[in-house]
Amino acid sequence: MASRPTISKAVIPAAGLGTRFLPATKATPKEMLPVVDKPAIQYVVEEAVSAGLDDVLMITGRNKRPLEDHFDRNYELESALQKKGDASRLAKVQESSDLATMHYVRQGDPRGLGHAVLCAAPHVGHEPFAVLLGDDLIDPRDPLLQRMIEIQEQHGGSVIALMEVAPEQIHLYGCAAVEATAEGDVVRISGLVEKPDPADAPSNYAVIGRYVLAPQIFDVLRETEPGRGGEIQLTDALQQLATDEKLGGPVHGVVFRGRRYDTGDRGDYLRAIVRLACEREDLGPEFRTWLRGYVGQELSEG
Ligand code: G1P
Repeated sequence: MASRPTISKAVIPAAGLGTRFLPATKATPKEMLPVVDKPAIQYVVEEAVSAGLDDVLMITGRNKRPLEDHFDRNYELESALQKKGDASRLAKVQESSDLATMHYVRQGDPRGLGHAVLCAAPHVGHEPFAVLLGDDLIDPRDPLLQRMIEIQEQHGGSVIALMEVAPEQIHLYGCAAVEATAEGDVVRISGLVEKPDPADAPSNYAVIGRYVLAPQIFDVLRETEPGRGGEIQLTDALQQLATDEKLGGPVHGVVFRGRRYDTGDRGDYLRAIVRLACEREDLGPEFRTWLRGYVGQELSEG
């Protein structure tokens, strides 16, 4: 049997306007908002790299220059820190530019996630590739992408990430109809629907922002009409692949039960920062002590 091509490319859509975070995102991309002390996007690139994907393509748009600058050298800052002999801060500055081979393409018109992914076609070519959405952060101790790559290498086709959510939450996500397989954390996808009303949802399996896609997705996306919200939806293209295997192989789902931090809206973003700050070895112990006292006081004051 011919060996399947190894997956080495990650695509990160980052063209959104970030309107939920205005005015912070008027002149700063939402991907650059700090989660504790690192921009959200750096966690995502680090996750791709630790899954072995060191070729990263970001789909950007207007006003996204700070993303490119963040993953590039900053000689002025580096030489200032060098002169001061501040090795630990220098390492922090250099970390993001040494991470991966970065590429950028602009989306032009924001026509939806499916359209953003289609912009990656010339760079990706004919290999399977990963897509990581910046609003979802996955705890490095619960590796998801590695597992998805493993399943793609076993079965071919495409692999999506799923999480069980409360039925009243399913309208916020793509939703999958699933069939069990012999492996406990793997399901076969028989259908997908973008952000259904709870009454029409085929399950409570929500699509979360990690995908390993067969390159045939591009052919399907070229033919995909605008769907929910008038946008070209990745979920709709995956629905085509799932229901017509001849197009690009099967679609499997990995059911994720690990730690996921959502930074998509202000409430989730605040929760993500608190949770991640508590986990940090340097900041956590002191922050947790403060938080315990603060929460105790807040609750007692009702
Ligand atoms: C996108 C996808 C949706 C998925 C979600 C995961 O939606 O379209 O299927 O469930 O990401 O975060 P968005 O959150 O960008 O509206």
